[in-house]
Amino acid sequence: MADPYPPGQPNAAAERVIRIQDLHLSFGSNHVIRGFSLDLHRGENVMVLGRSGSGKSVLIKCIVRLLRPDSGRIEVLGQDMLALDQDALDHLRVKIGFLFQSSALYDSMTVQENLEFPLRRHWIATTPGEADALVGEVLAAVGLSETRNLYPSELSGGMKRRIGLARTLILKPEIVLYDEPTTGLDPITGKEIVELILDLQRRYNTSSIIISHDLHVAKLAANRIAVLHGGRNYLEGTYEELRRSEDELMKRFFVFM
Ligand SMILES: Nc1ncnc2c1ncn2[C@@H]1O[C@H](COP(=O)(O)OP(=O)(O)O)[C@@H](O)[C@H]1O
Ligand SMILES: [Mg+2]
Repeated sequence: MADPYPPGQPNAAAERVIRIQDLHLSFGSNHVIRGFSLDLHRGENVMVLGRSGSGKSVLIKCIVRLLRPDSGRIEVLGQDMLALDQDALDHLRVKIGFLFQSSALYDSMTVQENLEFPLRRHWIATTPGEADALVGEVLAAVGLSETRNLYPSELSGGMKRRIGLARTLILKPEIVLYDEPTTGLDPITGKEIVELILDLQRRYNTSSIIISHDLHVAKLAANRIAVLHGGRNYLEGTYEELRRSEDELMKRFFVFM
């Protein structure tokens, strides 16, 4: 299938699915997010690149309102995220997949039960047959059809990450937020996960924000990169633009590349 949105070609005319404007969030005296702004367009993969502790996870949690910013504006699919009541928020969250930094699978549940969990939580696929079919579909999509009855402890790190992806995708979200999808994996498995993310993105037609400190991920997956530094969107560009940048911070990021 042709890539509708090849890397490095910003498509400003496409519909905006996320708009973040002038976001601020402090924890006591720790002013983590200090006026961050970012747009995500439909079909796009934007990566937020930042060092450990720069506020990447905090930012992504603000988008789904697991954390409430002190000020600023977040629009998701045209809705004012910070103004929604609980019902409307629950409704919108079904359209936003969130892959946590750890795969966060439930150890006491089988793969099948882990995958059914979001369906039950959102009252989707009420008959066992429907749930079974959806579980089968996402397991096939991540290449792990044989693992239905295994427990997370029986899976490798890469397999757990794939099941985490399957669990995110089972609700068929329009937007997926990935928090450090390759962290803790060896480079080969990490690359496989990125390729899988791209493959699933095409298959399910999602738009994504990928949070990472890993420039390999940026190079492979990002249409556009936003550098989170000092709590702000410090610099935006394609991988090649950032690689060639004369900015001192960027040179430090690229020192091993
Ligand atoms: N719930 C919280 N309460 C207080 N401080 C937090 C909380 N979550 C994150 N922080 C602080 O915010 C900063 C950014 O954290 P985080 O977003 O996790 O960084 P990273 O970019 O590595 O994902 C850190 O200084 C962290 O200690
Ligand atoms: Mg983090």
